[in-house]
Amino acid sequence: MKSLLSWIMRHRARRLTRRLAVHFPSSGRIADIGSGTGHNAQIWRQQPGLTVDEFDVADLHWVGDGPTLFDGSVIPAPEAGYDVATLLFVLQYPADPLSLLREAKRISKGRVIVLQSTYEGTWGRFWLRLRGFVWGSLAFRLARWMRVIPPQDCPLDTRRIFSHPELRTLFAQAGLTIHSWEPQEWHGLNVSRDLYRLEAISPDLTYRSSFPPAMKSVG
Ligand SMILES: C[S@@+](CC[C@H](N)C(=O)[O-])C[C@H]1O[C@@H](n2cnc3c(N)ncnc32)[C@H](O)[C@@H]1O
Repeated sequence: MKSLLSWIMRHRARRLTRRLAVHFPSSGRIADIGSGTGHNAQIWRQQPGLTVDEFDVADLHWVGDGPTLFDGSVIPAPEAGYDVATLLFVLQYPADPLSLLREAKRISKGRVIVLQSTYEGTWGRFWLRLRGFVWGSLAFRLARWMRVIPPQDCPLDTRRIFSHPELRTLFAQAGLTIHSWEPQEWHGLNVSRDLYRLEAISPDLTYRSSFPPAMKSVG
């Protein structure tokens, strides 16, 4: 059972990385905020030249050395210390997602990558809530029961779910503009796993020009 779960997590991390890699620099520093099991960071570190630091409010790591823990408000990292900050399926949990986004912006040189599930309508809301339960508190309890993570309280109780317009508003409030947006819809469920590449609203133009162009730009 444990090796099946490990295989699923590795497979998921590889799939996610295929979507994300085009938005990463070929070399530099990445801050993975809400790093979870550590499988994503483990794959990213395989690219020579990339350094990945993990930050989380709980230690859920199965692989790697585990995250630097923080209290959910101030990330213990210097301003502009990273080329990219990532928040993958995290924003539904914090009490104050706006502050967390601002922190991600503060520690990055301008680029923040967000992967977040969004819903449309009542049907989508239902499926996203159900999915959040299965991949959140249910998965956590299973991992804790199997002792692949240390005993601890569950940090995965969903506080909110987002529609795309709600996320756009949150990004704007955080001072981030959407450089590109790639929805990935679950057809028939009205749920999408959206990849957003965000940039600080007044980015350093020299920095931006050192990266490859986005796949799809959003006005
Ligand atoms: C669903 S897991 C996603 C883990 C990983 N990003 C991934 O996609 O595999 C959500 C993560 O967000 C973290 N988290 C919850 N509240 C947080 C907060 N306020 N600040 C940062 N991370 C938080 C959890 O501890 C957990 O590691």
